[in-house]
Amino acid sequence: MTSEPRGGFEVDEISDCDVETVVSLWRSSGLVRPWNDPYQDIHNARSTPTATILVVRPGARGDTDALRTPVGSVMAGFDGHRGWLYYLAVDEPARGAGLGRMLVVAAEAWLAAQGAEKAQLMVREANAAVQGFYTALGYSDAECVVLGRRLA
Ligand SMILES: CC(C)(COP(=O)(O)OP(=O)(O)OC[C@H]1O[C@@H](n2cnc3c(N)ncnc32)[C@H](O)[C@@H]1OP(=O)(O)O)[C@@H](O)C(=O)NCCC(=O)NCCS
Repeated sequence: MTSEPRGGFEVDEISDCDVETVVSLWRSSGLVRPWNDPYQDIHNARSTPTATILVVRPGARGDTDALRTPVGSVMAGFDGHRGWLYYLAVDEPARGAGLGRMLVVAAEAWLAAQGAEKAQLMVREANAAVQGFYTALGYSDAECVVLGRRLA
């Protein structure tokens, strides 16, 4: 899956050489919690046919890997009923230029191709500032309480 280049950036699937950059991005964006192993999360998503990790990168195909270093990421997964988004992040200097939107639009298209009719995501209470971003993209509060229990 590769999007049409837009504004010098394009979205495609994460590759092996992107993993360190993406983990650093998640850490610097405050998305990794002590109980998350980001490498395992990346491995699990890449091993599951109904999940993916998309990255947005500058440059054009054929440029060196260094020029194509990702500046944003999103994880998407279809659970058979709904599509979920996780780990959306854009590197701080690259924010405000439409790349977060580009990633969400690409993830939505990927989920729709999987058969998902609705995309949703969880926002940590401490990250209320990001809600305006999702509102700008047409997301609204699902008025649900999310419950969880660790299985491993
Ligand atoms: C959330 C995040 C990915 C947004 O990326 P971005 O590239 O800066 O977003 P965009 O430039 O694509 O913004 C898209 C729209 O949202 C708006 N927007 C962005 N951040 C916003 C905010 N905090 N509040 C209100 N609106 C916001 C933009 O103005 C833009 O609106 P427009 O298209 O009508 O002009 C980025 O801020 C980030 O990485 N945050 C840290 C990680 C994080 O919190 N991830 C979400 C976890 S749930």
